[in-house]
Amino acid sequence: MRKRLVLAMAFWWAMALPAAALAADGATLFLQKCGGCHKKGGQAAPVNPADKASVVWDKYFARGRHPVDLAKTMSNQELQSVIQYLKQHAADSDQPAAAVIPN
Ligand code: HEC
Repeated sequence: MRKRLVLAMAFWWAMALPAAALAADGATLFLQKCGGCHKKGGQAAPVNPADKASVVWDKYFARGRHPVDLAKTMSNQELQSVIQYLKQHAADSDQPAAAVIPN
């Protein structure tokens, strides 16, 4: 029983610590991974964090609305990190961001 508790706590630490690092990487991953297709003249229209409200970003990916399977180009962890970034700069956030993908 006690061992289980220790394991559970170790798990939470492992989950909680990288979260801070993920937030910083979100912006970079967004430019690299999403920007590969979503740039001016790219195969998809430009996308900005401020295009949607925070909850809408969550639902968009949770419900698999993206027309192209992103699992082929990025890990789920990378996607989660991008979603975190999108939400931080969503339309209803304190710092909405637009036009961050260079041409
Ligand atoms: C392999 C290419 C590719 C990658 C990588 C990609 N997308 Fe897309 N995305 C598309 C295509 C194609 C469409 C549909 C056509 C369009 O909207 O221009 C689309 C559509 C979208 C839409 C809907 C646009 C709208 O107006 O409703 C959003 C939002 C979106 N992508 C966000 C993202 C985000 C965020 C990432 C990175 C996590 C990403 N995409 C990565 C190709 C890609």
